[in-house]
Amino acid sequence: MRKQIAAANWKMNLDLKGAEKLMDEILEQYQEMPDGHQAIFAVPFPYLLMVQDKLSGRKGLYAAAQNCAATGNGAYTGEVSADMLKGMNIPYVIIGHSERREYYHEDNQVLTRKTDLALAAGVSPIFCCGEPLHIREAGTQNRYVEQQLTESLFHLSADQITGFIIAYEPIWAIGTGKTASSDQAQEMHRHIRSVFAAKYGDAVAGSISILYGGSVKAANAADIFGKPDVDGGLVGGASLVATEFVGIMNSLKK
Ligand code: 13P
Repeated sequence: MRKQIAAANWKMNLDLKGAEKLMDEILEQYQEMPDGHQAIFAVPFPYLLMVQDKLSGRKGLYAAAQNCAATGNGAYTGEVSADMLKGMNIPYVIIGHSERREYYHEDNQVLTRKTDLALAAGVSPIFCCGEPLHIREAGTQNRYVEQQLTESLFHLSADQITGFIIAYEPIWAIGTGKTASSDQAQEMHRHIRSVFAAKYGDAVAGSISILYGGSVKAANAADIFGKPDVDGGLVGGASLVATEFVGIMNSLKK
């Protein structure tokens, strides 16, 4: 059975005190995760070690970075490499979030390099894809998302794709309060799985955890996560409120 995952993406929010308080409140409710479930906290770089420390020894709870450099170590002021993340024992890194694609002009080629560097370092990518509103309105979202995935990931081996994590985040649903319906999410997630199945076979495709992101909250999580191809969520705004995120963790498929 593939992993069911509640992933928090704090983005560029919270001060250190607020971040510590949020982690402590969540950990009061969840000392560890049940078998087959994971909670992942993608936090700003300066908070990684604090979060890592609070999560150490707790089953199924992990820290993640929100980004890594597209190069190895060197004279790249302000960047953080996948090797540095590995050196801190950070197991996960978000790659290709739509905010990185849009505001920092990261294209599929850059994201290929980041993915390769993360995998080479032994840090598992949480690879994001998703279409903007005009693509959804034109009805070409399946082709659009397929291209994001094939251009950045299809050079990888079946072994590398086994157990991979994909996050589908329709851009029109991020931070807008507008969620894709659970049926829209399921339709895209099934399409994504079929794209991987065509290249890597059913067993590999079935091992991929595909998370939904875009205005997930405690109130809608169970409906969305209940769909057969939705394996949890990548959560922005609601991950900054302990009761909300705990509600989302509680909503993972049993
Ligand atoms: P919201 O949950 O705030 O819509 O953000 C989704 C997201 O971008 C998570 O990566």
